[in-house]
Amino acid sequence: MGKPCLMLAPMADLTHPAFRELVASFGGCDLFFTEMININYLKSTNPLKDPYVVPAERDRPLVAQLVGGKPEDFELAVERLEATGFFSGYNFNLGCTKGKFQRYGWGASLLEKPELIRDILKAMRRATDKPLSVKMRIPKGRNKDRLLRLLEVFESLGVDFVVLHPRTPEEGFSRPARWEEIAFAVEASSLKIVANGDVFSPEDAAKVIDSTGAWGIMVGRAALIRPWILRDIGSYLEKGEVDKPPDAICVLEALAGYIKRFLPERWHIKRLKLFLRWFVQNYTNALWILRRLKGRSLEELLEVSKRELKGLKMRGYPVNPFLFVC
Ligand SMILES: Cc1cc2nc3c(=O)[nH]c(=O)nc-3n(C[C@H](O)[C@H](O)[C@H](O)COP(=O)(O)O)c2cc1C
Repeated sequence: MGKPCLMLAPMADLTHPAFRELVASFGGCDLFFTEMININYLKSTNPLKDPYVVPAERDRPLVAQLVGGKPEDFELAVERLEATGFFSGYNFNLGCTKGKFQRYGWGASLLEKPELIRDILKAMRRATDKPLSVKMRIPKGRNKDRLLRLLEVFESLGVDFVVLHPRTPEEGFSRPARWEEIAFAVEASSLKIVANGDVFSPEDAAKVIDSTGAWGIMVGRAALIRPWILRDIGSYLEKGEVDKPPDAICVLEALAGYIKRFLPERWHIKRLKLFLRWFVQNYTNALWILRRLKGRSLEELLEVSKRELKGLKMRGYPVNPFLFVC
């Protein structure tokens, strides 16, 4: 088997263009995703000026992830995004468990509606010839028949790959990912399956591939803590070793620079703060450190963070995302 396709997961408010540029700067990521884009929101925005849409420089190939519930809205959204020329493919969100989207019947709640899923994928297909993918949780109650039925729908419509986050919607993040469900999907269908969930180290990446036979790996939270993890996974799978971690201060400075370059000013401090909530988890006493990271401007927060993190020893792999799950 060849090298698995390595992907950075979509994560709302976190995998914005500046963060993706940071990940790209380390290398090793084969496919980037936007954070989920609400298709209703796309109706009224100019995609060429929208920070959820306009990419950075090196975050390619880039897939746009869409969340919504109506076939005609998906068709329009893909048409509008296609016109920008930024994207190499489109991904349909069937995993989001956010309360608001559950109430609308979007994201993971669509897993109970295979007919609607079929119509939405057909509508997306009408708007583009580019690869279409889905990102899903396992259906409610670990319903195997439902999972098989959905995989059949995807296969019959020529979906190019399926990212499987093997927890049910009701489980949230409350238990370990069930990698055996990924192995089941690989066995049961001829689709390309991407393993997602609890890959916290390069060794985990090797284990998930060995135990499931997945075609690709998508990494989420561990990349927020260590934005260079995809580089490390690639080199571990190839040579059995990883490089030294980069200097934390350089990572912060680089991200702050990308935030200023690629994001609107109103997002600057909020996005750096959100990143720091994850990045501090490289250190023991993460919460204690985090409480000290304060600032009223991006520059001030950056200076305080550099001062507080200077000289601290980073923990090794596996990362342990114990703070702020969602
Ligand atoms: C803060 C946060 C935001 C997320 N936002 C999205 C999103 O916009 N779209 C999506 O499909 N999944 C989203 N997810 C789920 C992740 O993409 C991924 O499936 C999940 O975190 C499991 O992978 P991991 O164990 O590697 O983190 C989010 C997860 C987190 C923690």
